[in-house]
Amino acid sequence: MQKILVVDDAETNRELLRNMLENDYLVDTAEDGEQALQKLQEGHDGMAALLLDLHMPKADGIVVIVEMKEKGWINEIPVLIISSEHAIETENRCLEMGVSDFVHKPFEPSIVRNRVKNAIELFNYKRHLEQKVEEQAETLKRQSQIIQMQAERLSKAKSFNRLMMEYRAVIMEVETKLKVLNALFSEEYKRNPFESIKSRLKTPESIYKKLERKGYSLTLENIQDYVADVAGVRVICSFPDDIYRLAELLTRQDDIILLKKKDYIETPKPNGYRSLHLILSVPIFLADEKKYVKVEVQFRTIAMDFWASLEHKLKYKKDINDTDEIERQLKACADSIEALDYQMQEIRDRIDCPGK
Ligand code: GTP
Ligand code: MG
Repeated sequence: MQKILVVDDAETNRELLRNMLENDYLVDTAEDGEQALQKLQEGHDGMAALLLDLHMPKADGIVVIVEMKEKGWINEIPVLIISSEHAIETENRCLEMGVSDFVHKPFEPSIVRNRVKNAIELFNYKRHLEQKVEEQAETLKRQSQIIQMQAERLSKAKSFNRLMMEYRAVIMEVETKLKVLNALFSEEYKRNPFESIKSRLKTPESIYKKLERKGYSLTLENIQDYVADVAGVRVICSFPDDIYRLAELLTRQDDIILLKKKDYIETPKPNGYRSLHLILSVPIFLADEKKYVKVEVQFRTIAMDFWASLEHKLKYKKDINDTDEIERQLKACADSIEALDYQMQEIRDRIDCPGK
């Protein structure tokens, strides 16, 4: 049986409560706050609940609660206040300090039993949840330590660094190809097909995570076979039609192999994400060989890039409450952006070819 401590200076109350609860619990009693704290000090571990009167000699109920809060016991034992009055101010103060519930006089046996039972169950449930959260946090911490260690090991390995050099080289190749197209375009159409290029090399940590997510071990072969976006180039264009024209000009070049195309402009993601993704295999020229290396090229408009960076932030923020509402607003923004992009494109056409 679980232990319960009833603290009240009136003996009749102590006995009444003992009679009501002794079939289900081992009931111990204390005559005032001082005695209660003494008993808690001796063995608060095995205590399932505390029934506490407020008005008592020596130390009153509030003193007991304050002390329990200070020692952290209030988070370990549910406290139910025994009171004869409904003073809103006092009750609020108690609740703010962590009290679980109130049992009002005159005592009604079934209500007393149910309130005590509920308070204990709720507390056990809360404790169980807290324990689960703690365990999960611990697992996550261990996992992130492993990832950190693997990433460090990886970045020290010579062969890995050599492979990363190849990915840097393919980024340079693609950037050069795009810059040549830009020069050609501005010569022919008197404008630039893209506003800017952003390139990035995937971090060892992120490479490791991706392989693990896909169920592959960390080897140089697996990186090359299963991680298509170690080298990433993002091309930011002003208008949607430039995206397709540039992508077409790039993939038409006879040394480039198009491995995969995902057109999220034609078929946007449910969240509103719009971009054109190409996985290309592009040759780089090393000391004594020509090697094909994979690179992910993403094309999107300036407005969509702005949208994507904001949306990306949402994915990594864990402490946002109204995620659903933000997602809804982001989707609405993405749709407006699409309309705006095409409207701007039309205006550009009318400026460029006034006769049409
Ligand atoms: P990853 O495992 O993340 O590479 O996704 P995937 O292999 O399914 O490829 P996908 O073409 O869907 O996405 C590749 C990359 O595009 C991502 O790594 C992001 O950089 C970007 N991306 C894709 N979807 C979204 C999105 O919904 N929001 C944002 N902000 N970026 C996205
Ligand atoms: Mg990716």
